[in-house]
Amino acid sequence: MAVDLLLGLQWGDEGKGKIVDVLTKDYDIIARFQGGPNAGHTLEFDGIKHVLRTIPSGIFHKKAINVIGNGVVIDPVVFIKELEGLDQFNIDYKAKLIISRKAHLILPTHRLLDAASEASKGKAKIGSTLKGIGPTYMDKTGRNGIRVGDLELDSWKEKYRNLADKHEAMIKFYNVDVQYDLEEMEVEFFEAIKLLKELTFIDSEEYLNQAIKEGKTILAEGAQGSLLDIDFGTYPFVTSSNTTAAGACTGLGIAPNKVKEVYGIFKAYTTRVGSGPFPTELFDEVASNMAKVGHEFGAVTGRPRRCGWLDLVALKYACQVNGVTQLNMMKGDVLSGFGSLKVCTSYNYKGKAISHLPYNIEPENVTPIYTEFPCWKEDLTKMTSPSQFPKELNEYIDFLEKELEIPIKIVSVGPDRKQTINR
Ligand code: IMP
Repeated sequence: MAVDLLLGLQWGDEGKGKIVDVLTKDYDIIARFQGGPNAGHTLEFDGIKHVLRTIPSGIFHKKAINVIGNGVVIDPVVFIKELEGLDQFNIDYKAKLIISRKAHLILPTHRLLDAASEASKGKAKIGSTLKGIGPTYMDKTGRNGIRVGDLELDSWKEKYRNLADKHEAMIKFYNVDVQYDLEEMEVEFFEAIKLLKELTFIDSEEYLNQAIKEGKTILAEGAQGSLLDIDFGTYPFVTSSNTTAAGACTGLGIAPNKVKEVYGIFKAYTTRVGSGPFPTELFDEVASNMAKVGHEFGAVTGRPRRCGWLDLVALKYACQVNGVTQLNMMKGDVLSGFGSLKVCTSYNYKGKAISHLPYNIEPENVTPIYTEFPCWKEDLTKMTSPSQFPKELNEYIDFLEKELEIPIKIVSVGPDRKQTINR
């Protein structure tokens, strides 16, 4: 059997958690392949809202096995708190959640290094979630990292001490004011490690490839969004992993020819949290309405998200890089009653109209060129079938499908599992 991928096509926060949750009933295994607790995947059902950080979004379903892949970085402290949050739901996570031995660990000093690095950048800061993501991936590629599998070795604490000492020296080198009590942080960390070790560690690439051979269905769950990809995103204002389709292969150990469907998730408008260029960003009442109606505040940091119109140039780029086979449009309900809508269909780039995403999309180089649409007025949140969609929404969807040349198969009209319409 093949593997399907689910990815965000913008700057994250597209609503991936909700769609994974909706789709999990069709899959035996849900596997996270990159990122870490910088993610906040929000799921809503039976009147309860839950935010997952590292745990795959299939954890609430009865049957699915949830795999944390080798491409993920795990902060044991955050992870254990996340598990505790599941207790109220009576989830047997010891049976349903397994972790790759090759996943890297976020140490307390990685979090401190993140803070020191950001503080040293001043105005040029990335706007990181400060969860230690960048420094952990740096240690991974620098071949210094500590992996989950190391916890099974007696020598791991020695390795830990050496690395933590090195990090402390690096923090001093940044010469910024970062206050911390490492001993206190370590008490919490080692306690969390003890609990983490009660879970099952696996050779996940072997597990997943055997599952494929046995005909099991696998959904690979991405975190963040394509425009935050370390290679293809708006560098340096990106995260430190490959959030695009290729990241699923390296982050799980599955071959490209095993990938079948690629579900691309996008919002009917655009948001971004943290620094970096955002050509269709708005600074007016329209943006504040999007933020207010769409509850556009970061699920992890609570920071307000920047809001703007849908950017088709960037969306086409993301569809291309990922090989998206079907699209899911989220939050169309937020735009009800907006009067008119704009979609950016090309850029004025240094005086010339272009329709691809160029190397530099800073405001001094790029001005968006828009196509305008009348907006739907109806409340979409109670709709249950595409036959109820207003004419204006159908026109918007038809236009996007034609431009992107990919079908929009799911339209989400609210945060709850039930507010999901198949087309
Ligand atoms: P980091 O991955 O925490 O270092 O953050 C790097 C950039 O990616 C910052 O602009 C963050 O705001 C952004 N970012 C990281 N994770 C997410 C996410 O899950 N959703 C949206 N933005 C994110």
